[in-house]
Amino acid sequence: EIKGFTFDLDGVITDTAKFHEQAWHDLATSLNVPWSAELGRQLKGISRMDSLNMILAEGGHENDYTDDEKAAFAAQKNQHYVALIQALTPADILPGMTEFLAEIKREGYFASVASASKNAPTILKKLGIMADFVGIVDPATLSHGKPDPEIFTKAGEILKLQPTQIIGLEDASAGVQAIKGAGQTALGIGTAAKDAQPDIWFAETKEISLANIAKQMNA
Ligand code: G6P
Ligand code: MG
Repeated sequence: EIKGFTFDLDGVITDTAKFHEQAWHDLATSLNVPWSAELGRQLKGISRMDSLNMILAEGGHENDYTDDEKAAFAAQKNQHYVALIQALTPADILPGMTEFLAEIKREGYFASVASASKNAPTILKKLGIMADFVGIVDPATLSHGKPDPEIFTKAGEILKLQPTQIIGLEDASAGVQAIKGAGQTALGIGTAAKDAQPDIWFAETKEISLANIAKQMNA
């Protein structure tokens, strides 16, 4: 029986995925790395340093920069990203998610956040939904990023629930793989998540409700 939810943030609760993409695209261009929609999809859910390494590899630059230079590129991307998220307000919560968070709270389910983003607490505060979650996994404590299950396992521990009692929500292929690896039921949103064959799938966040989830679980 499902008793709780582990939520990815970027692309699930709010569309910060587009800001990450914009900031990485700009950095890639400045490093002469060609951008593609496919690269943008692959970077979803991937940690800051892993994302930079993927971009450098895409341009054949994997051995061209020192660790200090790479740290500077990552900081440059984050500065741009942080500037982009300053304007977030509760109106930037994705369609249906305010209602879904209210519905699960009303029905007695627990929720935690499994985002690889070090900016997650800032974003949740700006969206005004910090209190909807029992807790947030601190990505600085992780030894492996998504698709490794670690972050969802920790998000489940925060809920004090067994994996079989939890549904994880993700928009990224790497994230769906991580949820499945943690033994939780994977709910995927959008085309990028579909690649990893989630247990439950919705094209858009506005379709997510307890009733629509139950329909797919019993199908
Ligand atoms: C999320 C996003 C990724 C991002 C990662 C790290 O998983 O989907 O696009 O790279 O968080 O975010 P940060 O804000 O710490 O750079
Ligand atoms: Mg995401």
